[in-house]
Amino acid sequence: MAKNFQFATFVATFSLRNLPGTALRKQARFLARIVPLLLVLCGLVGAGLGGASGSPMASPEARTIMEEKSCGGCHIIPGVEDAWGDAGPSLKNFSKRERILANTVENNEENLRSWLSDTKAFKSGTLMPNLGLSKEEIEILIQYFSKN
Ligand code: HEC
Repeated sequence: MAKNFQFATFVATFSLRNLPGTALRKQARFLARIVPLLLVLCGLVGAGLGGASGSPMASPEARTIMEEKSCGGCHIIPGVEDAWGDAGPSLKNFSKRERILANTVENNEENLRSWLSDTKAFKSGTLMPNLGLSKEEIEILIQYFSKN
């Protein structure tokens, strides 16, 4: 935002200084139209970044847990380092799924909590191991998954 604004101001002062008379007025009119447009664009870019609040970038704690526990060894998780595993389903856009664990249960907080607390107890025969997550870590992950 600040950078774009600086750039617009730079372009404005630079062009005004170098164009005398009518050309200057034309230039000023052109700038009067283009500068607000640039500012609107800045706003849109800002809003776009804000809208990505569910990404691991916006939840550093969740990202750290998933990196420490190597979740990415088995899952694709956008924003988490080396998370390109394919032993488990991709966790991209997780919150938008109605059912999870191969469609066996509803995607809600309670099921996710039980799942992350003890995978084998929640779904016998599953290939996802228990990762020894603490209660606190599980809550951070649930928060993250409710938005991603
Ligand atoms: C050794 C591989 C492995 C690791 C490591 C692993 N998972 Fe999984 N995960 C799986 C598999 C396989 C499934 C599918 C389970 C099933 O349906 O039985 C799964 C399923 C899931 C699901 C449900 C996804 C869905 O759409 O059904 C979530 C959420 C999940 N894992 C989160 C995690 C998190 C968070 C971590 C790290 C703390 C992690 N996993 C680590 C293999 C793994």
